[in-house]
Amino acid sequence: MTKTNNLKVLVACEESQVVTKEFRKLGHEAYSCDVVDCTGGHPEWHIKDDVINHINKDWDMMIAHPPCTYLSISGSRWLYNKDGSRNEERWEKRELALDFVRNLLNAPITHIALENPVSVISSQIRKPDNVIEPYQFGHGETKRTCLWLKNLPNLMPTNIVEGRETKIWNGMRDETGKKLAWNSKEIKTARSKTYKGIAEAIANQWSKYALNYRASLLFFILLSACAKDNDRCITYKVEQYQRGETICNEGICEDTYITEIFCSYYENRKIN
Ligand SMILES: C[S@@+](CC[C@H](N)C(=O)[O-])C[C@H]1O[C@@H](n2cnc3c(N)ncnc32)[C@H](O)[C@@H]1O
Repeated sequence: MTKTNNLKVLVACEESQVVTKEFRKLGHEAYSCDVVDCTGGHPEWHIKDDVINHINKDWDMMIAHPPCTYLSISGSRWLYNKDGSRNEERWEKRELALDFVRNLLNAPITHIALENPVSVISSQIRKPDNVIEPYQFGHGETKRTCLWLKNLPNLMPTNIVEGRETKIWNGMRDETGKKLAWNSKEIKTARSKTYKGIAEAIANQWSKYALNYRASLLFFILLSACAKDNDRCITYKVEQYQRGETICNEGICEDTYITEIFCSYYENRKIN
């Protein structure tokens, strides 16, 4: 029997495993993928490689956090040298970064979310579908975060809290106690980690959506099969579903019910 309550999720460009772990808590088969080692404590759930080598596998969903170094609006000032001439190397890197984003957005995966700060993706590819802030998800800080979505709804705020300040990072020190420079690798890595509240919302809201989406697909497959084969038992079960006799929780219908119908239909066909 297909494991229909289980999603295969690729969390692209994630070393912290913050999002991966939230999907795992819900029982989904999630993997982080990054060119560097993971720091989330679960190397068994980590693919250390260029994510482009993995986007053609059989995933249900991809959450992608591509690097913003050459894409963010705040980094655009480096596109020109002090004398006003073009910094050709920087332009080239920006194009490569945009191609990377295009490849991720065009991956053959049913549900995709790509996250980045306010960036040139908006002008060079398309505007974001959803813009969120950490203070909408329980973290009293601002960090405008854009989401480009394929077949996913906007992320709904879960816990709007006080606090509209940008987090100050200049207090971080290395193991010898020396203050870290604002542009040090350590501070950049810490700043780029996904907020836990946002990761929880991603896993909770989007896994429900994807499971419901799958259930609807199964339902339509079943409907057409019933019409073709005129199987009275299955038709009866579909009618039950249409009468609303399903297990629903906060408006989300459990897909197990449809799964059972779908599987029993195929089991019956095998026996007969
Ligand atoms: C902006 S950070 C995102 C970090 C993420 N939010 C987290 O919590 O781990 C971008 C990440 O993309 C990774 N990366 C860059 N190029 C990559 C590639 N081709 N394939 C996979 N990961 C890549 C970097 O190593 C970095 O960890």
